[in-house]
Amino acid sequence: MMFFMLLLEVIWILAAFGGQHWTYEGPHGQHHWPASYPECGSNAQSPINIQTDSVTFDPELPPLQPHGYDQPGTKPLELHNNGHTVQLSLPPTLYLEGLPRKYVAVQLHLHWGQKGFPRGSEHQINSEATAAELHIVHYDSDSYDSLSEAAQRPQGLAVLGILIEVGETKNPAYEHILSHLHEIRYKGQNTSVLPFSLRELLPPMLAQFFRYNGSLTTPPCYQSVLWTVFHRRAQISMAQLEKLQETLFSTEESSKLLVQNYRAPQPLNQRKVFASFIQAESAYTTGEMLSLGMGILVGCLCLLLAVYFIARKIRKKMLGNQKSVVFTSAQVSEA
Ligand SMILES: *[C@@H]1O[C@H](CO)[C@@H](O)[C@H](O)[C@H]1NC(C)=O
Ligand SMILES: *[C@@H]1O[C@H](CO)[C@@H](O)[C@H](O)[C@H]1NC(C)=O
Repeated sequence: MMFFMLLLEVIWILAAFGGQHWTYEGPHGQHHWPASYPECGSNAQSPINIQTDSVTFDPELPPLQPHGYDQPGTKPLELHNNGHTVQLSLPPTLYLEGLPRKYVAVQLHLHWGQKGFPRGSEHQINSEATAAELHIVHYDSDSYDSLSEAAQRPQGLAVLGILIEVGETKNPAYEHILSHLHEIRYKGQNTSVLPFSLRELLPPMLAQFFRYNGSLTTPPCYQSVLWTVFHRRAQISMAQLEKLQETLFSTEESSKLLVQNYRAPQPLNQRKVFASFIQAESAYTTGEMLSLGMGILVGCLCLLLAVYFIARKIRKKMLGNQKSVVFTSAQVSEA
C-alpha cells in the first residue's frame, strides 16, 4: 500500500514537471492549471460570460467571411481523440476575412457536458450555458508561418465559438463528425473523414457576433486569441448530443469517459466585449408587450383624471377667492 502511494506520488511529480498532465476536475483540474501553466492564472482568459447589457456595439466591425468552408478539397480530413476532445484537422484552403489580418484554419474541436446535464458549453451568454460548443481554430498567416509560431503572440490566433443547443432534428453537418466517434473511442486513436461543407456547422446568422481578446481555454492558456462568439446557436438532436457524451474515452482503455471537458467562465477584468449588432430582438413576449401597453394606457388615464381633479380644485378655489374678494370689497365699500 505504502509503495503504491509512493508510486502515485512519483507519477504526480513527474506529470507536474513534464507540464503535461491536466484534467478538468480533480487534483489536476482547472483550479490547479495555473500551478503548472502560469498563463492560466493571468487576467485575460477564456471562456467568459458575455453579459449582453454591458457589451459595446461597434458599427465598424466588418462582417466575418469564411472562405473555402463550402469545399474543403478532396483529401480526407483527420479526426483524432487526443484525450481532451475530438479534433478534426482542417486544410489551409479554409481562411477567414473580416479580421485585422488573414487567418488560416488549422483544426476544430468540441466541448461538451455529461449525459442528463444541460450544461456543456464554455462561453455563456447572460449566464446561460448551452449543451456544447464548437471551436474552429485559425492562425494569422500574414504574420506567422505556423500555428505553433503564432500561438503565443497577441492576436496570433482567431477562434470561432459556436454555441450548440438541442433541437428537434438531426444536424447532417455535425453527423459527418459524430458518425465516426466510435472509430476513435480511445485516446490517441485517429480516423479519416471525407471532406464536407464546414459552412453548415456554423449558425444561421453570421452577422451577429461578439468579439473580444482572450485565450486558449486549455493549458497552456496562451492569451493570443481574438475570439468571435456567434450570437445565434447551432442545433443538433438529443441523440447526437448523447453520442458525443457517451462514446469517447479520455484514456487508452475503457476506464474514463471523455465528458465535461469545458472550462468555467473567467473574469472579464478590464476587457471590453464588442458586438456587431444592436440587441434588436425585444426581450418582451407578446403577453408582456400587451400588459405593458395596458399599463401605459391605465397610467395615462390616471394622470388625466388627476389633472382634471386638480384643475377643478384650482378653479373652485379661484372662484372662492373671487367671492371673498367681492365680499371684502363690498364690506370696504359699506364702511
Ligand atoms: C493523429 O492525428 C493527430 C492530430 O491530427 C496527429 O498529430 C497524429 O500524428 C496522428 N497520428 C497518427 C498515428 O496518424
Ligand atoms: C485587443 O487588444 C489589442 C491590443 O491591446 C487592441 O488593439 C484591440 O482593440 C483589442 N481588441 C478587442 C476586440 O478588444
